Amino acid sequence: MTRHIALKTPVPGPRSQELMRARQSAVPRGPYNITPIFIARGEGAMLEDVDGNRFIDFAGGIGVLNVGHAPARVVKAIQQQVEKYIHSCFHVTMNEPYVRLAETMNRITPGTHAKKTFFVNSGAEGVENAVKVARNFTRRPSIVCFEDAFHGRTLLALSLTSKVQPYKDHFGPYASEVQRMPFAYCYRCPWGKRYPGCNIECANFLEDFFKRYADPSSIAALIVEPILGEGGFITPPPEYYPILTGICRKYGILVIADEVQTGLGRTGKMWACDQFGIDPDILVASKSLAGGLPLASITGRAEIMDAPMEGSLGGTFGGNPVACAAALAAIETIEKHNLLERAVKIGERVRDRFEGLWKKCPFVGNVRGMGAMRALELVKDRATKEPAKDLANRVVRLCYERGLIVISAGTYGNVLRTLMPLVITEEQLDEGLDVLEGAIMEAAQALQPAPVETRPPAPIAPRSGGEGYTGVV
Ligand SMILES: Cc1ncc(COP(=O)(O)O)c(C=O)c1O
Repeated sequence: MTRHIALKTPVPGPRSQELMRARQSAVPRGPYNITPIFIARGEGAMLEDVDGNRFIDFAGGIGVLNVGHAPARVVKAIQQQVEKYIHSCFHVTMNEPYVRLAETMNRITPGTHAKKTFFVNSGAEGVENAVKVARNFTRRPSIVCFEDAFHGRTLLALSLTSKVQPYKDHFGPYASEVQRMPFAYCYRCPWGKRYPGCNIECANFLEDFFKRYADPSSIAALIVEPILGEGGFITPPPEYYPILTGICRKYGILVIADEVQTGLGRTGKMWACDQFGIDPDILVASKSLAGGLPLASITGRAEIMDAPMEGSLGGTFGGNPVACAAALAAIETIEKHNLLERAVKIGERVRDRFEGLWKKCPFVGNVRGMGAMRALELVKDRATKEPAKDLANRVVRLCYERGLIVISAGTYGNVLRTLMPLVITEEQLDEGLDVLEGAIMEAAQALQPAPVETRPPAPIAPRSGGEGYTGVV
């Protein structure tokens, strides 16, 4: 097997170190850096740093590179567009890529009803605008969101985001009319129950919520990431969304699916909503939408999207023609290269390896996910489930020192997640998984070994037609 990772120097190399010194004096510490390396170029699932080291990328710039680094179709579309014009502002002179992409989003998002789409620049801005539209349509003020949710860092999006440290550290006051309820975190069930046989309390709780905490007639929308992203790839059981969305429908509450991280093929279908049978009123996409350029879409039922008055939505850069042309090419790449099938295959391979790790490493408490969106939750002890954040950090570090970029997640920072480009080759995937496994086993050795529970990971309610949800609870 050809090795793809090639490290010339111990990382970070001298050029990265030099740039790091410049970064430290020119850039505040707030924007964090997971690795101390600077990228020089990328291709597919590989990236090369400024010292000539080659890494396998399991992070994809946090889920932005589903079609890979520098995908040929996207690069060409960008080149062709910049040669014509770079910006027009949709509100001044319209551009064709914007409208073509809106048509495409209306076609590929869940549901066959009439839809409309508009564009902004980032996931957070997409979330803010979805809420604006929902409030305007329903004429209601409140939004229900979830514990462990992440919706971005602008004021309203941050108010919807759950994790306090570091995201919400002294940035208040936060937006009002945000109501939060627990999510379907089976591994750490807020009701102390065990799936199945839990009566899906977490979904049915919404009825209770409307008795104890909020008047349903004041709720414009419920916003949910179908699988929590930054929260640790928390994957609800299949019964969850039919109950949750059924309760929303009963009270005229809109369902906003935040598919910023789950969308564009990550889970093995175009949208995670397709995995769970969710028919959202509004869907927000971003990250992998434009192959690496900043763009977000807000797609929804036509009558909802047309509620806000003319001039009330938009922004200077929203739906930039270069980003829209890139997005059209990225979606074409997903469709023409069967990247949805590929995500399923990647997921099967990663799942098998992660379940193997669960069997041999006592610090792997839970494995979960769908398609290529997979995670391992690390704990100090399987009985207490005490989160092992330091272990996760150590693994991330060992990985990049050995040529694999991997990132963590979770409110406790103890989850390792996979967001590799879906164009990754089998060899690159195996090599990356070997590095990850080696790093976990080595980092784990430094901790006190706890007895390995021998019960094998049980598939939880495999779904027909889709991919099974596996978990170890
Ligand atoms: C589910 C989800 N929503 C919203 C956001 C915010 O996106 P952005 O960082 O582009 O503002 C993120 C970013 O990680 C996300 O994962």
